[in-house]
Amino acid sequence: VVVEPLVIAIDGPGGSGKSTVAASLATAMSLPVLSTGVFFRAVAWGLADTGVDDAQVDDWFDRHSVAVEGQLGVVDGVVLTDELRSPVVQVSLSKVAASPRVRSHVLDLERREIERLGECVVEGRDIGSVVWPHASCKFFLAARQEVRLRRRPEEGPKLFERDRKDSIRAHAPLVIADDAFIVDNSDDAVDELVIRMRELIGVRTGRC
Ligand code: DC
Repeated sequence: VVVEPLVIAIDGPGGSGKSTVAASLATAMSLPVLSTGVFFRAVAWGLADTGVDDAQVDDWFDRHSVAVEGQLGVVDGVVLTDELRSPVVQVSLSKVAASPRVRSHVLDLERREIERLGECVVEGRDIGSVVWPHASCKFFLAARQEVRLRRRPEEGPKLFERDRKDSIRAHAPLVIADDAFIVDNSDDAVDELVIRMRELIGVRTGRC
């Protein structure tokens, strides 16, 4: 019997608490966590002076390296922290994430990183639908608008505009995978949510 590595996919809109929940779940299960939004933020930062035409994107990826370490992006070995939520990044993020060339390059990076990690918790927008469709267990995190807004004060209502663009883009939009558990993360304490999610993982995988 071949036992597939345990990969837990968590998708959802901005401010749904994905990164917090993913980090807590990963800690509880002693697994590493991959926050894929960091790839897109790091690339948006890198492309800020360049533009996102297909040729410019391919050229940029030829010349630069991108990696993710926790909530930090690393471009050409330089660690990005506050830059990832800076105005330059916020304004271009939707456009960068909608570029098929960017998505194709980032998809390679995401899959290679998941393979390298082996067993892990992965959070993003299209993990269960595109990046890792055979994930052991998939979650879609939801939260009420006012809760999401409270979690992203620096972005404000532009958050909803970004979500709308993430949801209607042609390539790998934010969708709920058919086999995902939908979890509302508006009111519950993270610890309680993690306990519930672990039960669901147990039901789905027979492990955990
Ligand atoms: O999770 P986040 O807010 O850091 O994500 C930043 C942006 O990256 C988000 O607006 C859409 C994009 N993204 C994506 O398109 N696909 C993913 N798997 C993760 C993020």
